[in-house]
Amino acid sequence: MTAGLNSETILIRGSRIIDPARNVDAVGDVLIRGGSIASAGGLVPPDAVPSGSLVMEAEGLVTSPGFIDIHCHLREPGFEYKETIATGAAAAARGGFTTICCMPNTEPAIDNAAVVEYIRHRAAAEAVVRVLPIGCVSKSRHGKELADMEELAAAGVVAFSDDGDPVYDDNLMRLALTYSRDLGLPISNHCQEPSLSRHGVMAEGWTATRLGLPGIPAAAEETMIARDISLAELSGGKLHVAHLSTAGSVALIRGAKERGIPVTAEVCPHHLTINDRWALGDHGNGDVSGAASYDTSTKVYPPLRQDRDVEALIEGLVSGVIDCVATDHAPHDVASKEVTYQDAAFGISVLETALGSLMGLVHAGRFTLPTLIERLTAAPARVLGADYLPLATLGPGTSADVVVFDPSRQWTVDTSQFLSKGKNTPLEGTVLTGAVVCTIAGGQVAYQDPTGAVSRSNSNPQDR
Ligand code: NCD
Repeated sequence: MTAGLNSETILIRGSRIIDPARNVDAVGDVLIRGGSIASAGGLVPPDAVPSGSLVMEAEGLVTSPGFIDIHCHLREPGFEYKETIATGAAAAARGGFTTICCMPNTEPAIDNAAVVEYIRHRAAAEAVVRVLPIGCVSKSRHGKELADMEELAAAGVVAFSDDGDPVYDDNLMRLALTYSRDLGLPISNHCQEPSLSRHGVMAEGWTATRLGLPGIPAAAEETMIARDISLAELSGGKLHVAHLSTAGSVALIRGAKERGIPVTAEVCPHHLTINDRWALGDHGNGDVSGAASYDTSTKVYPPLRQDRDVEALIEGLVSGVIDCVATDHAPHDVASKEVTYQDAAFGISVLETALGSLMGLVHAGRFTLPTLIERLTAAPARVLGADYLPLATLGPGTSADVVVFDPSRQWTVDTSQFLSKGKNTPLEGTVLTGAVVCTIAGGQVAYQDPTGAVSRSNSNPQDR
C-alpha cells in the first residue's frame, strides 16, 4: 500500500470514464467512499468531499475498472528469487491490474487446499491487489492423476490448469472437463502437443531456419485445441484456451463457438504486438545488424509467431472470437535468461508493459479504447464466471477497483524501474504510449506514478 495515501474518500475529477460493463463512455467524476464506488459519472458536488480526502485532477486521463489478468505467474512458493506474491502484485498495480489469477506451476504446485490457503494468506498479508489462485488439473502437474479438484474448488481456486505444460492425456482432460462442468469452473489449457513441439525454442519458419534454432510448428498448438474442443463438446465442461498464438487457432475457436461449444480463449499482449523476427533483432525497422539477435527475452511459450498470425489474433480479439487479453506474466531471474537461446527459460515479464503495448494498437486504429478496456475487464471476469462481474465495473456499490491512465503519455521501458523481479522483456528501451497514473484496489491506492497526481485536499475542493 502506498504509505500515507489512503483515505475514506477519493475523488477522481474530470476524466473520461470508460466502463464497458455499463456501456459508459463519458467525461465526469468518480467518487470512492469506504472502499466502494459511490458514483461514477456526472459531477460530484463539493460538499460530498470532506476536507482531507484524496483528490485527483484527472482531465485528459481515462478512468476505468481495474484490469483483470486471468493468467500470470507469481512464482511463490518455491521460486521467490524470480518473483513473490508481493512483488508480482506491486507490478500488477503498476500495470493497472487490480485482480490477478496466479498459475499453479509453483513448488509445491497448487494441487491441494493447504497451498491454496498459503497463497491466500500471503496475498492478504502482502499483496496490494486481489490475488486469485488457479489450481492444478493433475497432481504435482505431472499429468498422470487428477488433483482433488473438489477440494481445490472448496478452498477457493477460480480455475484449473497445468500451465507451463499441457494436460497431455486425452482421458485425463476429458475427466477434468467433466469436473469443470459440475464445479462450474474453467479449465485453462496450455495447448501444445509435445511430440510436435518437443525440442522447439521458437516458431517454426524462416527466422528459426535463419538462426539455426529448432522450431515449434503452429500445428503443435492447433492439434491440441482441436482435441480440447471435441472433449468440451463431449463433456459440456468449461474449456478456456490459454495464450492463443496462431491464425489456425483463431479459426478453430471461431468454429467451436459457431457450433455452440462452451469455449473461451485469451491472447497475450506480446502475441498481438511483436513477431518472431524480434528473435533475429528485427524490431520492425529492418535492422538485422545482429546486435540484438538471439535475444533470449523473446523466448516464450507459445512462441512469437509470424505477421499473419498477429493479424488474425488482432482480428479475433476485435470480433470477440478471442474473449480477452491475459498477460501470461512469466518473470525469470537473470541466470535463467543470460544463457544460450536453447538453454534459456521460456517467458516474458509483461504486467508493467501490457497497457503501453496494447495502447499502440489503439493509437494505430486497430481497435477502440472501449474495446480494449472491455477485453481487459468485463471479458476476463466473464471467463471466470458471473460472480466476478462486480470486479469489472464502476457500478455504484461495487468494490473500488479502479485504474486511471494517460492514454497519450510516452515512456521508455526501463526494466531497472520495474517493480517485478522479472526484467525479462524484449521491450527494454522501447518507447510506449499510454501509462498508468494511479491504481486503486478495494479503495486503497495500490500504485501512483512519480508525478504524484493524487493529493490530499487541505480544504473543501470547492475552494480550490
Ligand atoms: C511460463 C512460465 O515461465 O511459467 N512460461 C512461458 O513462456 N509462458 C509457463 C508457460 O506457459 O509455459
